[in-house]
Amino acid sequence: MIPASADVAPAPVRIDAAALSGPRFAALPPLALYVHIPWCLRKCPYCDFNSHEAKGEAPEAAYVDALVADLELALPSIWGRRVFSVFIGGGTPSLFSAAAIDRLLAAIRARVPLEPGAEVTLEANPGTFEREKFAGYRDAGVNRLSLGIQSFDPQHLKDLGRVHDAEEARRAADAALVIFGNVNFDLMYALPRQTVAEAEADLDAALAFSPPHLSFYHLTLEPNTLFHRYPPPLPDDETTADIEDAVHSKLDAAGYGHYETSAYARPGRECRHNLNYWKFGDYLGIGAGAHSKLSFADRVVRQVRHKQPKQYLEQIALGAPLMEDSVVKRDDIGFEFMLNALRLTEGVPATLFAERTGYPLSLVRRGLEEAEARGLLERDPSVLRPTPLGQRFLNDLQQLFLAD
Ligand SMILES: C[S@@+](CC[C@H](N)C(=O)[O-])C[C@H]1O[C@@H](n2cnc3c(N)ncnc32)[C@H](O)[C@@H]1O
Ligand code: SF4
Repeated sequence: MIPASADVAPAPVRIDAAALSGPRFAALPPLALYVHIPWCLRKCPYCDFNSHEAKGEAPEAAYVDALVADLELALPSIWGRRVFSVFIGGGTPSLFSAAAIDRLLAAIRARVPLEPGAEVTLEANPGTFEREKFAGYRDAGVNRLSLGIQSFDPQHLKDLGRVHDAEEARRAADAALVIFGNVNFDLMYALPRQTVAEAEADLDAALAFSPPHLSFYHLTLEPNTLFHRYPPPLPDDETTADIEDAVHSKLDAAGYGHYETSAYARPGRECRHNLNYWKFGDYLGIGAGAHSKLSFADRVVRQVRHKQPKQYLEQIALGAPLMEDSVVKRDDIGFEFMLNALRLTEGVPATLFAERTGYPLSLVRRGLEEAEARGLLERDPSVLRPTPLGQRFLNDLQQLFLAD
């Protein structure tokens, strides 16, 4: 007998079967390789990167050996895959000799298939500039240099605790453009006591070199830094907003596309390595504290290597460099994708979500509806693109994709 309650039709329960199971990839995302060099001449007071003052010489030879061992241990997780970009970051990779970088890149080429024309970037601090060394990096296969200039203003460089002065920054910039052509300058703004006119002068000084790429970072006070403990007098919000407006219009007039929150490039000179992060591609990170995100047919994993250089070297000797190794949960992956993709001014094709997460876009339906209703996301089903309002309130937009 049917119980009486069956007379009342139950509310339909919608189950998205695809979203409940694990991810399914038709093809794996593109793969990049990141190599971390964790030493600097001196620790800058604003920096929370995994970077450590090299007291004396950094153990260059032992560290390159460790990187090669690290790569070999990681090979089973990337079997058969080609790498389209290598990024040697830090820290200050330009502390290392050209011979060490040559040995590193030769070891990488011997173990993983690099795509022809792969982008190979190295981060350099102007305080470590030597013409011959930079030319040696180029001969070793580096074809893009990212130069940490921060500012051309002598007082601001001093306030930032930089090891180089403005003249050294100019010399390094000149040489980098001659030797590599493909060069990025890192600049920061909203510096202690900086005025709009000073920020504009800084940008003019950078534009005089006509670099193909510029990264323009808002100086942030990061926990565990000297600036966080003893905050310097920073410009107020209004001045900062005026600096941003001035910078955007100057760079736009100079022919640079603003393709990501902090990145500007001449057409075709966008950083392929960073674009891969923002498009939720895969990356293997080797070296102290390096992060990886790797996709397999049925899962996406994140890994972090031991952070302290000494501990990393010890763990490599034991064949165990990983400090964390976890599978990305279904509930988190939509947010992680959006956290990256929505930084891109032009957004991404909507189809990229399924390609890179292995789940249908319906996984984030609620967030999409709310973002569109609030005017933060374009109402175009073919793209996931923040509106100008969404770019301005990017944090709020990204938060809408957090799992309940
Ligand atoms: C790894 S460093 C680049 C290479 C080299 N270590 C150097 O500083 O010359 C990466 C960049 O992050 C930026 N950066 C670091 N700390 C920052 C902070 N607290 N706020 C904004 N940008 C920061 C700087 O522009 C820096 O050049
Ligand atoms: S900003 Fe660059 S040079 Fe300064 S401590 Fe950080 S990584 Fe090292």
